[in-house]
Amino acid sequence: MIIALAPAYHGNTLLALSASAREHYRMFFREWLVDVQRIPAPYPYRCPCKGRDAGCPACSGAALEHAIARIGPDQVAAFIAEPVGGSSTGASTPRPDYFARIREICDRHQVLFVADEILVGAGRTGTWWAIEPYDVVPDILVMGKGISGGYAALSAVAAPERIIDGIVDGSGSFMHAQTFSHHPVACAAGLAAVRHLKAHKLVERCAELGRVLQRRVGALAALPHVGDVRGRGLLAGIEFVEDKATCAPFPRAARFAETFTEAAQAEGLVVWPNVGHADGTNGDLVMIAPPFIITESEIDEIVARFGVALQTVVKGVGQRVTDN
Ligand SMILES: Cc1ncc(COP(=O)(O)O)c(C=O)c1O
Repeated sequence: MIIALAPAYHGNTLLALSASAREHYRMFFREWLVDVQRIPAPYPYRCPCKGRDAGCPACSGAALEHAIARIGPDQVAAFIAEPVGGSSTGASTPRPDYFARIREICDRHQVLFVADEILVGAGRTGTWWAIEPYDVVPDILVMGKGISGGYAALSAVAAPERIIDGIVDGSGSFMHAQTFSHHPVACAAGLAAVRHLKAHKLVERCAELGRVLQRRVGALAALPHVGDVRGRGLLAGIEFVEDKATCAPFPRAARFAETFTEAAQAEGLVVWPNVGHADGTNGDLVMIAPPFIITESEIDEIVARFGVALQTVVKGVGQRVTDN
């Protein structure tokens, strides 16, 4: 058995989708998915404790302990999590002590801890791996996207020899080869991208400019319908709500995230919308993930264009309310 978080997203192949709590993706494939147990994700904005309670099962990691006890420790193979939330929680960051607790629980029960760094790895959050600031080493690290700078279809899994040996001594090799796996051109693009990041100190730059981005986008929290602004490095998530006081989301039918995304695009700003994280259906957020070479003045431009786009959308919402 694998344990995963909810919300979470790990991909669309069958086991990855089984581990993903994204109902609007899962619904088309439900009969083919396997059973993966879920525990609540550490998602401070949507948790009653707001991430402040060290005793909160979701925010502290204790929910994993409870799930392992319920399933039976000898039945649990692995726990998978994104060290910083990707699309499903929009750059949400767990409490600083979360992954140390996860590591300790996994060690005690001999459960493998898999860090899904496909979105947040390769420098995006200002460290090579988003798990680093938690001072924890996962058993398996999954990477993709940024390891080739997005220029070639490349993903990879890193694991220590004690895990590789288990495969070697078992089946002897992976039993899921594909035509283009281990592709030398993709690997060459990956090496070139990583060398470029290192040579130009772009991860360090991402940390430095990331601090600027987080400070400046923080100002967006004052705008109407902006419920939360969060993130790390050059990854920011902005969550929209109908009511800022209660964190109540817009009804899905309002398509707020999609409407905002179109308005932002009209202002020349590309954001990444996501929906459904508030309760599985409702919830609107967008993510900002600029290139590592962004400048301070371009960050200011992002914030300004974001504000203009939001004004357009909010005017539209007000207009619809008046018309009704
Ligand atoms: C956190 C995370 N894990 C896994 C994946 C799946 O990667 P792929 O689309 O390459 O299968 C994604 C894709 O967006 C992701 O964001």
